[in-house]
Amino acid sequence: MSNISFKTLSPQVQIPVSTVRPFNIAVAGTGYVGLVSGVCMAHRGHRVTCVDIDEKKIALMLKGISPIYEQDLEALMQLNKERLTYTMDYKNAYKNADVIFIGVGTPEQPDGSANMFYIANVARQIAETIEKDCLIVVKSTVPVGTNDKVEQFIQDFLVHDVKAEVASNPEFLAQGTAVRDTLEAPRIIIGTDSDKAEETLQAVYEPFGLPIVSVSRRSAEMIKYAANNFLALKVSYMNDIANLCELVGADIEDVARGMGYDSRIGSNFLHAGIGFGGSCFPKDTKALDYLATLHGYELRTVKAAIDVNKDQKVLLYQKACKRLITFNGLKAAVLGLTFKPGTDDLREAPALENINLLLAQGANIYAYDPIGSENCKNIIPETGTEQDRGKYKGKINYVNSAEEALEGANVCFIFTEWDEIKAVLPKDYKKLMRTPLVYDGRNIYDVNEMQENGVEYYSIGRA
Ligand code: UGA
Repeated sequence: MSNISFKTLSPQVQIPVSTVRPFNIAVAGTGYVGLVSGVCMAHRGHRVTCVDIDEKKIALMLKGISPIYEQDLEALMQLNKERLTYTMDYKNAYKNADVIFIGVGTPEQPDGSANMFYIANVARQIAETIEKDCLIVVKSTVPVGTNDKVEQFIQDFLVHDVKAEVASNPEFLAQGTAVRDTLEAPRIIIGTDSDKAEETLQAVYEPFGLPIVSVSRRSAEMIKYAANNFLALKVSYMNDIANLCELVGADIEDVARGMGYDSRIGSNFLHAGIGFGGSCFPKDTKALDYLATLHGYELRTVKAAIDVNKDQKVLLYQKACKRLITFNGLKAAVLGLTFKPGTDDLREAPALENINLLLAQGANIYAYDPIGSENCKNIIPETGTEQDRGKYKGKINYVNSAEEALEGANVCFIFTEWDEIKAVLPKDYKKLMRTPLVYDGRNIYDVNEMQENGVEYYSIGRA
């Protein structure tokens, strides 16, 4: 990787580094949000220090290796290495920073609310460390009103006589396309409650050359939740309609195509499937519902989206139960593990829930995923854990190709639309499987083509 040049990057990110007014920036947290934002800011000319508490991650990044799988990220880390530092030493990183971005996690709590532990922790470290006036920018997805609290919290714990202002700057990157989404964002939302904070953030983003929408902090916080919840609703709505399509003999793919031509609806995010997963939609729908309840309001639309998704995630398994008398002793091919293609992330992936159900029913699973198998092994080990033994009757094996998974299988489940999985031809299922019985949660194939190739094929929202 030492010969990184612009030629190795996707066309979308081949834009020369800008030299406009560089800031000293620190980024707290090197997950998808923090690391991608930090690296992209360095790519746009700023000097960036990425801070994390995970020693292993820091060691990897210092070697120029990205701890997460994300297209172009590693290449950009290496290309901009003169402007990028990685450290656990937050004191040095924050001390003289002009701007500190907070990109740590806000995981879901059992009651659905967002956990503010990591945000508060970083805020306190900042308060006790900064030695000059500084803008603190919250990038993590946080409930409306959090920026106010963070500013007050920092004020309460400030050690030096400096001014610390807080601004909201939610991010809209999707995993798998995170770098492109950041460098080519359709808009940047900045939420500030002072002219100075607004000017600083405008200047930080100037070299990106993207449209900036400047609003209050609370509106910025709400924009993030409202956008994610709207998209989650869109997915659940299509899944709901897909289920009805099956009952009335319509085809959801045709329905989506017909709807998408209407510019008021748009053709994106109309794909019916086995429900949304990942670290964002499941968490953010519950957090907004919780926030509304807290204020005595019932957010009925979002509740419905959550409800539909819960059922949708196990739909494939339920469909198979209608056809098969037992899974015990059957070889089940599982194609795709991650919650979507282009990422190694398995958080809330529908595949996991279905695999656990299949294992409990005694299926012998042969699972293939181009990227996600290693992570999945940590969640559902091939050997089974002490705890699992006795719970699972079945067994899972991770294999290196779709063909290997399909060889001699009695049933196949498709959970993720990876290109490697889409490359399997209808005739291959007939040729490789003992019984060509396929449950497709992503509507990869044409129904007629599968039928013509002798495959018994069930998908979502199609006859
Ligand atoms: C989502 C948003 O798209 C980003 O804008 C946002 O910044 C991010 O959450 C976040 O809050 O950090 P992400 O979770 O990476 O990004 O994934 P999406 O591509 O939005 O997909 C979410 C889920 O919806 C996936 O399980 C996907 O398979 C499903 N989906 C998406 C559908 O079932 N149908 C569709 O048409 C689109």
